[in-house]
Amino acid sequence: MKPRLGVLASGRGSNFQSIQTEIVSGALDAEVVVLISDRERAPALEIAENFGIESRYIPYDKSNRQDFEEKAAAMIEAHDCDLIILAGFMRIITPWFIDRFAGRILNIHPSLLPSFKGLHPQKQALDAGVKIAGCTVHVVTAEMDSGPIIAQRSVVVFDDDTEESLSDRILVQEHLLYPEAIRIYSEKRSAR
Ligand code: GRF
Repeated sequence: MKPRLGVLASGRGSNFQSIQTEIVSGALDAEVVVLISDRERAPALEIAENFGIESRYIPYDKSNRQDFEEKAAAMIEAHDCDLIILAGFMRIITPWFIDRFAGRILNIHPSLLPSFKGLHPQKQALDAGVKIAGCTVHVVTAEMDSGPIIAQRSVVVFDDDTEESLSDRILVQEHLLYPEAIRIYSEKRSAR
């Protein structure tokens, strides 16, 4: 059956947009049923609105992460989501939320994990002098950027790359990777 996706995003929302575009084109058999943002002015909210997808801004207070997570979890459960898609969601998710949706939260990270976890992975890749960089979609577990890898795509690092130019080329691959990884993971889950 068509997986029901709940998306969490904080900003630009280009990964969310590429997933939804693949859905609309028929290339990805899934449905985004709700988008949640922790930032009131996130462009991702506007993208959802343009696609006619229900969206909600939930304020995030670092000193009370559980408040956001309880509200987000309630929305996700009310919409009967099969998978939670982190698409540029810039907050740490607590073990409480991860346990509640164990094995059902996916994240995209702009490096070839397990290399360059955490912040500024593209800069980390340049500083390390690697010749191949890329992006990874993985299942979210308690340890950051460490869950089982679903799919990856690589890009060649050029000698004159800057953090920005490398990030831009990786982003092009992210947009191809995330819909592909959702397809792979959903098929695997429904075959169980
Ligand atoms: C992407 O590079 C993603 O890998 C990272 O944050 C960025 C979000 O971009 N986690 P967008 O909001 O999907 O455009």
